[in-house]
Amino acid sequence: MTAQSAIFEPVPAHARHLFFDLNPTVHPRAALQALAAACDGRSAVLGVGVAVAQALAVSVTGLRGFPLLPDARPAIPVTQRALWVWLRGSEPGDLLRRGHALQALIAPAFRLTQAIDCFRHRDSRDLTGYEDGTENPKGAAAVDAAVVQGQGAGLDGSSFAAVQQWLHDFPAFDAMQRAEQDACLGRCRDDNKELADAPESAHVKRTAQEDFEPEAFVVRRSMPWVAGADAGLVFLAFGKSFDSFEAQLRRMTGHDDGITDALFSFTRPLTGGYYWCPPVAGNAIDLSALGS
Ligand code: HEM
Repeated sequence: MTAQSAIFEPVPAHARHLFFDLNPTVHPRAALQALAAACDGRSAVLGVGVAVAQALAVSVTGLRGFPLLPDARPAIPVTQRALWVWLRGSEPGDLLRRGHALQALIAPAFRLTQAIDCFRHRDSRDLTGYEDGTENPKGAAAVDAAVVQGQGAGLDGSSFAAVQQWLHDFPAFDAMQRAEQDACLGRCRDDNKELADAPESAHVKRTAQEDFEPEAFVVRRSMPWVAGADAGLVFLAFGKSFDSFEAQLRRMTGHDDGITDALFSFTRPLTGGYYWCPPVAGNAIDLSALGS
């Protein structure tokens, strides 16, 4: 059982998220096999959307599309793609060029639909200045939270990734007093301590992983992005299923108790997709659960 190792590593200095759609006129198997051989799970993480499994006429236990939440306030967009590749490194130019090579490798079966450049901000902070990732499970707890176990070869070692691009409204954030900003997150920006009197709408109250039944632990590897005048966070969470992320998202959007996450006062998602990240065998991704 070997998971794609980037799941357990701190976020890199730079990253590039690539999203691909299927070309319905080309069978995807050969392109997928080439891509799997080119991804090592460390510098290139591969995630497969449900459309790929459907095109191959297989089903992967637990793999589904990003949920429609018609009652969510605010609206949560669904932009499910067929494939997701997360390139990680230290040189943005190298990531761009590596992406070009992968794009060429899997054309014309897959077409690039979106690319997002990300970077680490200081000691892994969101662009609002708050440290992100503090409550991530570590060591064996991270494996338990993020990796499929006990389901057999091909599935064991795999992981389920939720990816959302969030756009920040910096003028709205900057218009708040510091106390109000801290109350949105539920943490003090200066010392990262949880606020004793955080309101129920505070982000860390909405998502407190041990407060769900069952507990909803995930391993988050979110990173800031910027493109021209727009910027925000690419939220990325790995789970042993999509259920923990989905429980958190539902609580953030008021499904449990009508209270929405105060984060929405300064940021909103633009995209959302679910991707199954196959295990690794040797130096390449193991696609045996997809029949390859
Ligand atoms: C722009 C969007 C977001 C920002 C800026 C953000 C930022 C933060 C920050 C600063 C923390 C506190 C430190 C930490 O434990 O990491 C946090 C915690 C957390 N966030 Fe987010 N987050 C965002 C979106 C989301 C989404 C969409 C989810 C899941 C649906 C989520 C799940 C969590 C979880 C599980 C925790 C830890 C809660 C705990 O157990 O204490 N976040 N986030």
